[in-house]
Amino acid sequence: MYKLGILGLGEGRSTMSAALQSDKWTLHKICDLNEDLCKKRAKEFDFHNYTTRYQDLLEDPEIDVIGIYTPDKFHAQHIKMALEAGKHVVCTKPLIDDLSKAQELIDLSAATGKRVFVGQSSRFFEPMKRQRADYLAGEIGELVTVEAYYHADHRWFLGKGWSLENSFKWLYGGLSHPVDLVRWYMPDIVEVMGYGMLSPNGRAGGLQNQDTMHFIFKAADGRIARVSGVYSGPVQPTVRDSEMSCILRGTEGCSQGDYMDLRYAITTKTGEEKLITFDHKLKHFFRFEGKSHHAGEYQNYYEYFADCLTSGETAYPDLREGIKTVAVMQAMDESLRTGVPVRVG
Ligand SMILES: NC(=O)c1ccc[n+]([C@@H]2O[C@H](COP(=O)([O-])OP(=O)(O)OC[C@H]3O[C@@H](n4cnc5c(N)ncnc54)[C@H](O)[C@@H]3O)[C@@H](O)[C@H]2O)c1
Repeated sequence: MYKLGILGLGEGRSTMSAALQSDKWTLHKICDLNEDLCKKRAKEFDFHNYTTRYQDLLEDPEIDVIGIYTPDKFHAQHIKMALEAGKHVVCTKPLIDDLSKAQELIDLSAATGKRVFVGQSSRFFEPMKRQRADYLAGEIGELVTVEAYYHADHRWFLGKGWSLENSFKWLYGGLSHPVDLVRWYMPDIVEVMGYGMLSPNGRAGGLQNQDTMHFIFKAADGRIARVSGVYSGPVQPTVRDSEMSCILRGTEGCSQGDYMDLRYAITTKTGEEKLITFDHKLKHFFRFEGKSHHAGEYQNYYEYFADCLTSGETAYPDLREGIKTVAVMQAMDESLRTGVPVRVG
């Protein structure tokens, strides 16, 4: 059993639930600057070992791993502090929002021998896991193109003060999911181009940066992919669409993993059409009110990380893979600014 300290108790709530229900983890201590929130979580989970000082997690010799769920702009700094304290790190997406700290984190991880695993939750959702397994089993033949998107009515998110700061971009906060899904299948994205805009609802809500974006990617081998994100308006009923989706079009088949409704569809190489739902897993994934938190994915990725720590295998996405995804997003950002295709650095 690995001992976990959690930093940031908004989304860290899902991680608390994940660790408390897992037989591979012991939740050891939780931390948030906001003491009222610490008390709220302590009561909710009947778990009372909390602190408002990150230093208390860093200095606690019992803690093996720190899970970071602070606002995006703090991730680089909080990862660095955890590595320096000799802890392994799980950091939520987006891993970092600026590449200038990337090399320092790579060097620190190498020097300390401590790992950084990106909590890229969407890979650990049931439909996406099944899609990956079918792809690896050759069910759709050779991959031709990928289309991934994340379109959600996230106007509620504008209640968080940091979402209205200029440092917050849906490009990183939201599109990190579909960009990662594309890169899971086409790791070598070399060029991107796209357009983005701030919608009337986003502007009225106080957002500073684009909330509506469409991109096309080119991979090193010439294949292309598409990614989009729309965040400040109503969405289709889930029976017609899913807030997050990944379509793989292959030479012999085609598959689609849908986030909402735990839904997966595939036309296999034998021509068989299958529509699969994972209703029996609803309670595993969605443990709180509504579907805004999805603790099951967190439990899945923490258990995968624990298995990798034990076996010595690398847990993906690791620091390097996470940084490559950030490099793609940085190029996307530049394409929005310049209006032209941008090579990924
Ligand atoms: N699917 C996913 O993986 C997923 C979903 C939602 C959010 N997230 C990510 O989780 C992160 C947090 O998002 P959120 O919605 O929980 O935001 P939030 O504002 O609700 O929570 C962040 C918390 O961090 C705390 N905090 C900030 N600095 C701190 C510090 N130095 N020490 C201790 N606590 C500190 C704040 O007090 C706050 O309670 C973001 O990076 C977001 O992108 C990931």
